Amino acid sequence: MDKFVIRGGHPISGVIPISGSKNAALPIMAASILAEGVVTLENVPCIADVTDMEFLLSEMGTQVTTLGNGKYGKTLKLSTCNFKSKVVSYDIVSRMRASILILGPLLAKYRFAQVSLPGGCSIGARPVGFHLNALSKMGARIKLQKGYITATAPVRGLKGADITFPTTTVTGTENILMAATLAKGETIIRNAACEPEVSDLAEFLVNMGADIEGIGTKTLRIRGVEHLTGTAHYVLPDRIETGTYAIAAALTGGELKLKSTKLILLKSVVEFLNAAGVGVTEEHDGLIIKKLDPIKSVDIITNPYPGFPTDMQAPAMTLMCTASGTSVVTENIFDNRFMHALELNRMGADIYAHGPTAVIKGVEKLSGAPVMASDLRAGAALVLAGLAAEGETVVDRIYHVDRGYEQMEEKLRGCGADIQRES
Ligand code: EPU
Repeated sequence: MDKFVIRGGHPISGVIPISGSKNAALPIMAASILAEGVVTLENVPCIADVTDMEFLLSEMGTQVTTLGNGKYGKTLKLSTCNFKSKVVSYDIVSRMRASILILGPLLAKYRFAQVSLPGGCSIGARPVGFHLNALSKMGARIKLQKGYITATAPVRGLKGADITFPTTTVTGTENILMAATLAKGETIIRNAACEPEVSDLAEFLVNMGADIEGIGTKTLRIRGVEHLTGTAHYVLPDRIETGTYAIAAALTGGELKLKSTKLILLKSVVEFLNAAGVGVTEEHDGLIIKKLDPIKSVDIITNPYPGFPTDMQAPAMTLMCTASGTSVVTENIFDNRFMHALELNRMGADIYAHGPTAVIKGVEKLSGAPVMASDLRAGAALVLAGLAAEGETVVDRIYHVDRGYEQMEEKLRGCGADIQRES
């Protein structure tokens, strides 16, 4: 298993190009199943989750071609004319929960899907009942057997329905949005997630010929169409990668230019950074991040967009570890997303986590230690801590980090970090 060996204490300064968004690329790749024709996707991040989604789609019969590989990111051509399988195995779902995003498009286009039921997850229960209830309302027959979801649509296809999600769900909204594009009649999704990644998917579907109203709001109205065509799309920048590197600059007292990203995508994170004493300036091609004052403690409450993103909670907690004063982090989205807190304590942090709350008393400095990533964002938080800590930090299980950050060590090394990958 690969590890990062980090010798901390170097300011992270320079330019980091921000990659395309993982959580936009994955549903858009899944949505390519709906197209009659070729889909071309630009700015797709080269990360393990995308490789897994490419594998999943090719196993089913999609022809996946990589057109251009820049220094970061790639262009993918997806052509689904020879579709042969509608089954997603446990093997792939256990590696990538986002495989559940295949359910909606498969059912809409082929009226049948069999997807392994995702199991437990290190950040919380993460059930998919809301997806399944909504698909049932659209006429699908759902059976749970032998660890698989088997879903069958009526002979004439799914039908439009009025759906209210009890809790905002990102992939739930995306699954139903995709399913509704080819359903008979109108679907209304209430309490829809309005994360930028959901809007990017919706824009992509509209370019394919879908009829969607209310993009970016909590109510989406979709009138089903007969078919969708191929199209080209440029995946939006990754706001969580942007926020993660912004914290690297703030923590180490460096100055970073984050290229090809936009402030509008992460307003709540910028408010947090500003309150902590970090300057964020927008330029035409990206953001400049600079620590202006000693870092102050700021409370964080995670919420669905436009609230503070749960995916930024762990990296932001690392920043709070050496802030002056005490901050309280409230995690409202997932029920077990503080695994990084115990690892940060091993590096000298003072965090008390209980239930949905963590109390962080700022300490003067962190010190290097061997630590272990338990999930993608926890891993990122530990890398950030290693960059700021005195001495050597070894972050184990960085396959979690590789799932969602494109060449993290190379991007950081280019800005002065002492970070090596060891196998
Ligand atoms: N929920 C249910 N039942 C459901 C669906 C969701 O109870 O049927 C609950 C979840 O357990 C959770 C809450 O609703 O407590 C919200 O979960 P959501 O469904 O929104 O999460 P998700 O769609 O599984 C996506 C991202 C996550 C991100 C969350 C929240 C993708 C591929 N994944 O997950 O990204 O944390 O939304 O914003 O888009 C990451 O990138 O590190 C990551 C975990």
